[in-house]
Amino acid sequence: MPSTKRPAILLNARRYWSDCVGRSGVFRGSWEFVAALWEFLRDSTPSRLRSRFGDADYDWDYRVNTTSGAVGWRDRLLGVFHSPYQPTERELFYEMMDALAQHTKINFNDFTFIDLGSGKGRTLLMASDYPFRRIVGVELLPSLNEIAQQNLAQYHSDSQKCFAIESVCADATTFPLPDGALVIFLFNPFPESGLRRTIANLENSVDAHPRPVIVIYHNPQLEAVLNETGRLKRIVGTHQYTISRS
Ligand SMILES: C[S@@+](CC[C@H](N)C(=O)[O-])C[C@H]1O[C@@H](n2cnc3c(N)ncnc32)[C@H](O)[C@@H]1O
Repeated sequence: MPSTKRPAILLNARRYWSDCVGRSGVFRGSWEFVAALWEFLRDSTPSRLRSRFGDADYDWDYRVNTTSGAVGWRDRLLGVFHSPYQPTERELFYEMMDALAQHTKINFNDFTFIDLGSGKGRTLLMASDYPFRRIVGVELLPSLNEIAQQNLAQYHSDSQKCFAIESVCADATTFPLPDGALVIFLFNPFPESGLRRTIANLENSVDAHPRPVIVIYHNPQLEAVLNETGRLKRIVGTHQYTISRS
C-alpha cells in the first residue's frame, strides 16, 4: 500500500538494533549497532559529504537530481537502518542491460521493469531507454520518492522508449508485484531479513500467477540468500552483478 508517512527514526533504530542482536547476540549485536552509527557520523564530515557529489555527472546531463550528495541527514540516518541511498552508475547499468539482452534474448515489450528500493529513480530513467511494457520504482523513504517523481516529470531524452513510468512510496519487501513478466532490479536494498521477505513475496506472487521473472542483482552481497529460493538460475554475472531467471 503506497504511503507518505515519514518513517520514525527511533522505531527504525530499535528494529535495526534488534536485528543486530538477533543475528549476533547482545554484546556483538550492540557493538555492530554502535559501529553503524559511528560510520554514519564519519560519513557526515564535510569531505565525505563533498565526495558524494562525485556521482552527479548524470544529473548535469539530464537536469535531474539523483545524486547521493544531496540527501539530508535524516534520510541518510534512516539509510543506515535499511540501506543508504546510492544511485547505480550509468556505465554499469548499461553493461547490465547489455548482458540482460545478450544472455536472455528477452522481448522488452513483454516485461515490466521494477526497481525494489528505487531511491531518487535514476534506474527508472535509464531503463526507459528500453521498450519495457512498464517501469515501476518502489521506494521506502517518502522524500526520496518525491524527488524521483519530480525527476520522472522533468526528464527528457531523445533515446527514451518507455513512457509508462511511475515511482511509488512503499515497503518493497511486501509490495504487490505487477502482473506479467518481470525484470526485478535490486541494488542491494535490503538486509538479509528484508531480502527473505522479498523472496517470499515473489514466490507467493509467482505461485498465484505463474510468469517469467528475471532478477538483476547489483552488488550481490546476499546472493546466497537469493539462491536459496531454488526457483532462480544464475545465467551471467561478475563481481558487480548477477542476472538470474526463473
Ligand atoms: C542502494 S540504493 C539503490 C537506489 C536505486 N535502486 C539505484 O540503483 O539507483 C537502495 C535504496 O533502497 C531503499 N530501501 C531500503 N529498504 C527499502 C524497503 N524496505 N522498501 C523500499 N525501499 C527500500 C533505500 O531507501 C535506498 O533508496
